[in-house]
Amino acid sequence: MDHKELKQFPSDFLWGSASAAYQVEGAWDEDGKGVSVWDNYVRIPGKTFKDTNGDVAVDHYHRYKEDVKLMAEQGLKAYRFSVAWTRIFPNGRGEVNQKGLQFYVDLVDELIAHNIEPVLTLYHWDIPQALQDEYGGWESRKIIADFNNYAKTLFETFRGKVKYWVSLNEQNIFTAHGWLMGIHPPDKKEPKLFYEVNHIANLVNATVINTFHEMKMDGKIGPSFAYSPQYALDSNPKNILAAENAEDALSHFWMDVYLYGEYPIAIFNRLKEQGIAPTFEEGDAELLKSAKPDFLGINYYQSNTVAWNPLENGVGMGEMNTTGKKGTSGESGEPGLYKRVVNPHVERTNWDWEIDPTGIRVAMRRITSRYRVPILITENGLGEYDKVEDGKIHDDYRIDYLSKHVSAIREAISDGATVLGYCTWSYTDLLSWLNGYQKRYGFVYVDQDETMQGSLKRIPKDSYYWYKDVIEKNGSEN
Ligand code: NOJ
Repeated sequence: MDHKELKQFPSDFLWGSASAAYQVEGAWDEDGKGVSVWDNYVRIPGKTFKDTNGDVAVDHYHRYKEDVKLMAEQGLKAYRFSVAWTRIFPNGRGEVNQKGLQFYVDLVDELIAHNIEPVLTLYHWDIPQALQDEYGGWESRKIIADFNNYAKTLFETFRGKVKYWVSLNEQNIFTAHGWLMGIHPPDKKEPKLFYEVNHIANLVNATVINTFHEMKMDGKIGPSFAYSPQYALDSNPKNILAAENAEDALSHFWMDVYLYGEYPIAIFNRLKEQGIAPTFEEGDAELLKSAKPDFLGINYYQSNTVAWNPLENGVGMGEMNTTGKKGTSGESGEPGLYKRVVNPHVERTNWDWEIDPTGIRVAMRRITSRYRVPILITENGLGEYDKVEDGKIHDDYRIDYLSKHVSAIREAISDGATVLGYCTWSYTDLLSWLNGYQKRYGFVYVDQDETMQGSLKRIPKDSYYWYKDVIEKNGSEN
């Protein structure tokens, strides 16, 4: 609908930006840090662009004060970062590594001293290698106790200081990429295992949310989900059904569990027919139903368009593309459910991602109608090959992308969505898991490349100043 007048952003709206430990910190083996699965994976030749890794990344570990200063000068209200489990417990459990914990204590203090709200992500994909070796990491229910213990340590440490907590970042991506598509550690393509792992991750998510609430933490916790609203190619009823299927299989399959504690029935029954449905043990159903997130974190980059895909004619499960992170031109999907197609109505980035600001409004509308839960946008941004010209970065394409998304969010708020804040991806440029340092998302350019020998100098881009202005005006256009 059109609105005669748009609502204003709430006065306490969190204008933020985000990062993740492995992608920014570097210092991969300093101060007692243990080895994560990513520290090892990047060393397998050919897994990442020119074998780039996060050993140094953008050296946020040593330069966090400089980075926070830039945030403060920009007027940033919130900074989302993740904690590396291996800094706290080098082997996943046992004695706390005080030096590792201290880094985050210092970072949080620095943020608070500059009036920047810390948004702490417990897990952004870097599980300790020790747990992977000991019991297969996410493949075993043993992770529930270890993760809960790790989370409790952070809850106790940051009680009263950190008000916003993200439990798991993009569970749908790290499970699909790790166990279905074989492009993230542990590099497997096993559909049955993928559904088991994902179920275990659901149990972990529910457990830590319950722990947080039982500990009466003063704050809010929720998972971050990579959400792409599914569109039908056209009004052919078969294509409409395909979009329903895709929404169920790629979104409700996670979000329904988070919010209702149940898998969507049609998809679950189909998995049962195929013999790959996750195993429910005694107590699972009750646990999943008992945990209520305080908000749903949404990482939105693009929408996804699908068409009918007859059973006899599709690409296999291993090709299932959960959000189009690999670009969207290639056909992917699931026979009998849907196949992914190009949306003829939207433009695409140089990385072949669709640009669809209306999609973020659709996303918030759908989530609000189905779940009635507050939303924190935990990621949104544009990956590009930025260029330094005369010491400046004129990233007007990013400003265009972000400003259209900010307007769409304001429209969604006017539609009735409760939106707590907006974290762009990312604050500084950082390591792209598979694409090295060539794909940049930041407000702040960092001199780093595939040689991993860059000067690491920070340069605010034009978008940095644009966002400063947005924050000053609290998102209002007039
Ligand atoms: C998803 C992930 O959370 C983040 O780590 C990644 O770099 C961005 N989105 C861009 O793909």
